[in-house]
Amino acid sequence: MGRHTAVEPKSNGERRTFAAHGQDPVGRHRGGVAEIPTLMDSQPMGGRLPVAIEAIGLVKDYGEGENVVHALRGVNVSFERGMFTAIMGPSGSGKSTLMHTMAGLDSATRGHILFDGADITEMNDRQLTLLRRRKIGFIFQSFNLLPMFTAEQNILMPLTLAGSKPDRVWLRTLARTLGIEHRLNHRPSELSGGQQQRVAIARALITKPKLVFADEPTGNLDSVSSGEVLDFLRRSVRELGQTIIMVTHDAVAASYADRAIVFADGAIVADERNPTPERMNELLMEERRNASAHTRTSR
Ligand SMILES: Nc1ncnc2c1ncn2[C@@H]1O[C@H](COP(=O)(O)OP(=O)(O)O)[C@@H](O)[C@H]1O
Ligand SMILES: [Mg+2]
Repeated sequence: MGRHTAVEPKSNGERRTFAAHGQDPVGRHRGGVAEIPTLMDSQPMGGRLPVAIEAIGLVKDYGEGENVVHALRGVNVSFERGMFTAIMGPSGSGKSTLMHTMAGLDSATRGHILFDGADITEMNDRQLTLLRRRKIGFIFQSFNLLPMFTAEQNILMPLTLAGSKPDRVWLRTLARTLGIEHRLNHRPSELSGGQQQRVAIARALITKPKLVFADEPTGNLDSVSSGEVLDFLRRSVRELGQTIIMVTHDAVAASYADRAIVFADGAIVADERNPTPERMNELLMEERRNASAHTRTSR
């Protein structure tokens, strides 16, 4: 398929194409201009950036028979490169499952996940391990820093584990951007929560991953530290060109993102560009009302 080629919509009479992965685009004609089917065709808003990762008909069931849980019910979504996307929704709606299957940490029951020119649902464990190590960064709610090591050693850990040489210039850029350059020789216990999370962000970015997943990265932080961490996440998108997908419960946190998706019961129920806290709270409340109405009628 020639799907791995994205075309930026026409602007200033100019058309820029992002040919990726060396696949032959399948030409198609629309209004006299050869159109190329893109990964963004499934995107309702029409995107301007090439796609970083896409899920097509993604289904994830846990358990079987009577005990089956439909965690993802055929999700179609694509995430653009260089964008900061938030994923919101009630507890148990499938947010973490989406992240874990897209990151190749958990297998899909059905459907496809296209990332960097390949369908990761077809990869074996060894391929998935390499993919995660080389192309994906993770940021967790609980920082997950190693207490015996300094901030710098923690940041460099993904490279150390892979046996790669650290890029000192990139380390300094990250440390400066994240405001931790004077904390690099400290152990995690000597750092505040906000500083620890910034170290964890630097660790996620040190390999220059194509994609960063953050699961509730501000869940353990006070509001000032949260604001700092979110600001740094946004800066790493703006200034370093990162692509970030972040799960959050917090409408204010989601408002730092370029786009926010709302999940309910394993499906996407809303997709907002430039989300505001007010709009996200509105959507979440609406979802809660729908859910309680559904519970009443299904009894
Ligand atoms: N390993 C698992 N085994 C069985 N059920 C699971 C497992 N992980 C998640 N689930 C179920 O899948 C649904 C979605 O969970 P999850 O993706 O963790 O939701 P969220 O992150 O939105 O809170 C929930 O009903 C949850 O109980
Ligand atoms: Mg979760």
